[in-house]
Amino acid sequence: MSELRAVDLRCEHLFAPQGLNTRQPRLTWALEATGRDRRQTAYRIVVGTDRHKVASGEGSLWDTGKVVSSETLLVPYAGRALRSDEIVHWSVQVWDENDLVSSASEPATIYTGLLEQGDWSAQWITRALVPPGGRFPPQDTVYDNPYWARPADYYRREFELRRAVRRATIYATALGLYALHLNGKPVGDQVLAPGWTDYHSRVEYQSYDATALLNGGANAIGAIVGEGWYSGRVSYDQKRAGSHYGVRPALLCQIHIEYDDGSTEIVATDGSWRSGNEAIVYSDLLLGEKYDARLEKPGWDLVGFDDSAWWASEVIQPLPRAPKVEATRGVPTRKTVEFEPKFVHRTSSGKLIFDLGQNIAGHMRLETEAPRGATFVLRHGEAMQPDGELYTANLRWALATDTYISKGGRQVFEPRFTVHGFRFVEVSAPEGLGPEQLRLTGIAVHSDMPLAGSFESGSEMLNQLQSNIVWTQRGNFLSVPTDCPQRDERMGWLGDAQVFFNTATYNMDTSAFFTKWLVDIADAQTEEGAFTDVAPSAVYTRFAPNPPRGAPGWGDAGVIIPWRMYERYGDLEVLQQYYAGMIRWLDLIERNNPSFIRDNAVYSNWGDWLCLGNFTPKNVVATAYWAHMAELMGKAARLLGKRQDEARFNALRRDIRSAFQRAFIDKDGRIAGDTQSAYLFALDFDLVEAADREKAVGHLLRCISDAGGHIQTGIHGIRHICPVLSDLGQAELAYDLLLKDTYPSWGFSIRNGATTIWERWDGWTPERGFQSVNMNSLNHYALGAIGEFMFARVAGIDVQADGSGGRHIRMRPLPNAELGWCSATYRSHAGQIASEWRCTPGGVDWKIAVPANCTARIELPKNFTDVHLDGATLQAAGIPRSRSAEGAICFDIGSGDYLFSLIAG
Ligand code: BGC
Repeated sequence: MSELRAVDLRCEHLFAPQGLNTRQPRLTWALEATGRDRRQTAYRIVVGTDRHKVASGEGSLWDTGKVVSSETLLVPYAGRALRSDEIVHWSVQVWDENDLVSSASEPATIYTGLLEQGDWSAQWITRALVPPGGRFPPQDTVYDNPYWARPADYYRREFELRRAVRRATIYATALGLYALHLNGKPVGDQVLAPGWTDYHSRVEYQSYDATALLNGGANAIGAIVGEGWYSGRVSYDQKRAGSHYGVRPALLCQIHIEYDDGSTEIVATDGSWRSGNEAIVYSDLLLGEKYDARLEKPGWDLVGFDDSAWWASEVIQPLPRAPKVEATRGVPTRKTVEFEPKFVHRTSSGKLIFDLGQNIAGHMRLETEAPRGATFVLRHGEAMQPDGELYTANLRWALATDTYISKGGRQVFEPRFTVHGFRFVEVSAPEGLGPEQLRLTGIAVHSDMPLAGSFESGSEMLNQLQSNIVWTQRGNFLSVPTDCPQRDERMGWLGDAQVFFNTATYNMDTSAFFTKWLVDIADAQTEEGAFTDVAPSAVYTRFAPNPPRGAPGWGDAGVIIPWRMYERYGDLEVLQQYYAGMIRWLDLIERNNPSFIRDNAVYSNWGDWLCLGNFTPKNVVATAYWAHMAELMGKAARLLGKRQDEARFNALRRDIRSAFQRAFIDKDGRIAGDTQSAYLFALDFDLVEAADREKAVGHLLRCISDAGGHIQTGIHGIRHICPVLSDLGQAELAYDLLLKDTYPSWGFSIRNGATTIWERWDGWTPERGFQSVNMNSLNHYALGAIGEFMFARVAGIDVQADGSGGRHIRMRPLPNAELGWCSATYRSHAGQIASEWRCTPGGVDWKIAVPANCTARIELPKNFTDVHLDGATLQAAGIPRSRSAEGAICFDIGSGDYLFSLIAG
């Protein structure tokens, strides 16, 4: 029997999909094994409804038998047609290079979900409107709070079970945000469901196994529905702060019950559900939550509660049309990490300040004992003012304030439908309560993507930078990748996300997260073919009939991200799916720019946003991105077998490239603007003739030295600077930029206390204090796009951009004496990769791990003249080595653990 093991079983990029949007889901597994050169030569997948049988290698729905193949990624299901509301299990057996077979893997589970719109018998329900003056309006509701924020709606319904239940699954979603209770207990561990989509087009549902929560006989289901992105506040347009999609949050829910005799029953939302209000006076993403515990209605979610004072729910057709209800493509949002804050001080106005020590997105939990009616106000901010007060000016209109009114006795408060971006919290507590009487906990909330990478090194600053990048990702990946979690913005900006994409994939498995967001991007694409600046886009329309079209570098993400999804995860279907939309964007640009310089249809045209020093001319940035997209389109067309398109885009790229050279490059090789970013784009996107590259390199180096050896790029140039420099043989300079702590640098922000990536290089400086309150987030990931360089080049885990999904790895570390050592891992969909180097007196010891069934191309820096494996020469180990064009040692290896000694010349 082989000990080659299939692990990390994924279906449509998820470990346990909560529903499918396809009847042919694709199955992926990674491999683990000890020893070297381990390979999969064949596999057998079994899929069935009985988990035990599947675990022993028997599948009633599909049994591929032994398939001779090394494939492990995205194998399409081709068994018996999947039906709605099934739970199926699958496992895989693999054969190794000696044709020995493994035992069946631990089974993984797939909820098929509701595959057809017609499977939904539930009706959208909403709370009946309370007439003015209200019959039972909770105190301080929409009628008298200054923000017109609505109280959360509560729904309940009792139902009777006729027999013993074999299985019960709840399918639910909301226009708004929802949480379910069954017989008084919370259902599932997600928060802020169903997440954010273009609710006029589609909304995602979630599935919950409710079998264990049901009682024999009478049962009660309850739901709490808040405003969220649907009708609550999002973004900065104060003329239209909320109600972007509608004004009445609504619930859609159905429970599928299967009895032990095989008969089924569905309990679904309809007019018979009762609705009312409870203690959530309002709960809004930007404002915060007000919770009056005196209004709690104990037992509202239990059988026997007297709901005669509640209203009948109203069945509605959402406007302007009912959204398509689809299975969740991304990962659930959850509470992930808790922090115990430190008490800082009492301000002169008597407020208590606490410090989490980490800038997060999430909320606080307050546990205390207080008399009935005592009021607590929690305000959240990212920083402190010099006068010891909380700094909130950069939140703009986001109130980020939670208010809790005590019901008396010991109690716990945790807001439900709000998120704050903060490190510090200011508590106004009732008279007589000091910090000792409050138990506070900070809770991070985000899309709960599996961690994929780790990075550590001999530099404390660099380790903090990695932590800052990861926390900025946690703080902003919430259903969509947002720009920032704190101020009144929090939109899915396409530019920031494409710049950060590769870094994000190293830190976490973002495949499902981006699969979902690509749907939002496609939903936002305009009729004329424009991708937008933000997706979902409705929050950004400012009354315009169409969403504003995307700027170069922003809208371009509609092409760049599908391509990177293919590069990273080998997902060709993504390219297929979005190809037509990508072409429409390229058509639009080409139609408007016959001269091949991208001056027109550039819309907001932000250029290399937030750069320092000279501004790179906007048409340089725009045209460079256009050339880059033409290149990607040519490659995509080739992969998809579209020969004519391939020729078209290759020709387009040539035309743009020569136009770029004619328009922007002078005879001395200077590029218009003469900025770091101009040269970086030209070099990285290959827009300079080979003969002129050296001149461009010279100018780039001059621009860096003119800036005193500092970075001056904005959010677009930043992704290229260190990778380009190291590819040019300037690794020392790349390290210098990376490890600096003088302004502007990552180290500078860290030296000044940053625990997340700042939006701007000068978010805070000792001379000027905080940057303009108009735009100064301390939790913005774009400038964190350096993470990609840290994994790919510093540690040397450079996942090949060949769509092999991690099967072929390029390992090319850049050992550096100042850093001393570096240790990183990356778990691709194919398996766990590791690299650890340590400088020694004579060279470098380098330990790596290549997962089974994968190969690595090793490329050493030029200064290493020899390399030994396990103390012997490569030759002795039977590994042929060669030299790259630049003279560096290269060789190929199969899977396994290796210890190399790199010998410096
Ligand atoms: C956002 C950025 C975004 C930009 C567009 C800002 O308000 O926070 O991250 O890319 O607008 O220029």
